[in-house]
Amino acid sequence: MERNFESLVADGVDSENEEIERQLEMETRRRAEYVAFIEEKIQDPKNYIDKGGAGKVYRLSEKGVCIKIIVDRHEQPNAHEYNLGTHPESEAHFMEVLGSFGVGSVRSPKLLEYFKAYDKEGKLYHAIIMEEIDAVNLQHIMNGTKEMPKNMDPEAFFDEIEEYIDALHIKMEMTHGDNELRNMMVGREEGRLYMIDFGRSESLRGKTKEQKERLKKKDWDIFERVRKEFLEKKFAK
Ligand SMILES: Nc1ncnc2c1ncn2[C@@H]1O[C@H](COP(=O)(O)OP(=O)(O)O)[C@@H](O)[C@H]1O
Ligand SMILES: [Mg+2]
Repeated sequence: MERNFESLVADGVDSENEEIERQLEMETRRRAEYVAFIEEKIQDPKNYIDKGGAGKVYRLSEKGVCIKIIVDRHEQPNAHEYNLGTHPESEAHFMEVLGSFGVGSVRSPKLLEYFKAYDKEGKLYHAIIMEEIDAVNLQHIMNGTKEMPKNMDPEAFFDEIEEYIDALHIKMEMTHGDNELRNMMVGREEGRLYMIDFGRSESLRGKTKEQKERLKKKDWDIFERVRKEFLEKKFAK
């Protein structure tokens, strides 16, 4: 059978497409295995770390990797009825930007990956894979459910957090938006402090002077309230 030039080229394109299809199939399978691995970890109660208002955090590996699972509410029809904060993808973006940012001994957990997937019931969830920090959250200390690390100096802690928030506003041009005690952590290792949970952060870029001032004031109002609350409580040492 005689074959013309066009059909030869078309054959070439076909085999190229087949190769791409094969790679796509492999990639899809690899992805499904990865998600299944993660879901198995999450279902094991021994990997549960803690939860907040939006997400649950689980250990993924003993080497210091954890995952925050956020069940999607942004795409629900009644989403506007909730005060949802930032979209989880933006939360991950803020964490990424903050990856190399620190002030004194305060920093935030490093982002490793963000993805979204569907659970077995077909519900969309978001996942933030990050560094697991060996730290205690201040709300737990306040509630007496966790012990305050022996070397923690509460006054110095808040002075450092204050500088961090100020630099966050000025250098990083963003706010935290939810700097409550539950989102501040003190490392079990001496001298490490953490601000976590950027689920209510906002960028100050492109905002008017008034908007910027209002957003920054929100951080400072929360900060002054929780500092007072924490420092006024007498802790048994
Ligand atoms: N990187 C982390 N390492 C260790 N514990 C964490 C980490 N991130 C969060 N946690 C714990 O999980 C809790 C919930 O996480 P958070 O990001 O604050 O979720 P939410 O947005 O639901 O408030 C925190 O209060 C903290 O105790
Ligand atoms: Mg939180």
